[in-house]
Parts: sequence; structure tokens; C-alpha cells
Amino acid sequence: MLYSEKVMDHFTNPRNVGKLDDADGVGEVGNAKCGDIMKIYLKIDGDVITDVKFNTFGCGSAIATSSMATEMIKGKPLSEALELTNKAVVEALDGLPPQKIHCSVLAEEAVKAAIKDYFDNTGKEYDPALFKGGHSCDNCCNG
Ligand code: FES
Repeated sequence: MLYSEKVMDHFTNPRNVGKLDDADGVGEVGNAKCGDIMKIYLKIDGDVITDVKFNTFGCGSAIATSSMATEMIKGKPLSEALELTNKAVVEALDGLPPQKIHCSVLAEEAVKAAIKDYFDNTGKEYDPALFKGGHSCDNCCNG
């Protein structure tokens, strides 16, 4: 089978879909390869992500990885969420077909963009190197 049961589960029944009107950080990224877009909303209390929602205008793999990524960062400290990699999300989904790996990059980058937005909104100091690299819009489309 092309897709794992976990991918099918998160695709057909995605967790944390929607938006948070009172989000503390919002991250939106586009996938340069296919033009798909993902938006993630974070509610942050102290240093912990207390709630997260996402909207993805993308393929099934993008939806499944967004869903899994939100599950993996909910209730976690920001430092842990910043360490979330697309590889870890793909592993948690029991893999993706090689040609769909690029879809998982959206989730990692949207989480990072939302945390950066929170830092910027609250004037918190951070190491800009944390947000370098990858394929977010900041780095390739608008940069
Ligand atoms: Fe665009 Fe999957 S094909 S995110």
C-alpha cells in the first residue's frame, strides 16, 4: 500500500483543524514545489503551547503531516516544538512515499513560522539562526 494506516487516518480524520481567533502566534508557509499553503495558529501560555489549530490548502500528505505535527507539539514547551523536524513527523506517520516527503516540510516550517511570529509579537529575544534554512516563503519565495 502506498500510504500507511496512520497517514490515511490523519488524512481522513485530521486533528486540530481550524483557526484560533486569539492566537499568540500565526505561521503561514507555502510549498515552493507545488504551491500548497499551510497556516498554523498557536496559543501560548508562558513557554508552553496550550492549543494549536491548522488550515492546509494542500494534498493529503500535507494534511496528514499537519495533523500529526499539531498533535506532536500540543502541550509541549516551545523549545521542544522548535526541534520538531519533518523527518520526525514522517516517522510518526510510519513513513510517506518518497515523492511526498516535500509535503511534510510545510508542517515543520509552519510551526517554526508561528513560533517566530509569537517571538516577534511579544518582543522576545531569540537567535535568528533558529529560523534559518528550509524552504519557507521567507527563504525562497519572498527572500
Ligand atoms: Fe503540495 Fe503535497 S503536493 S504539499
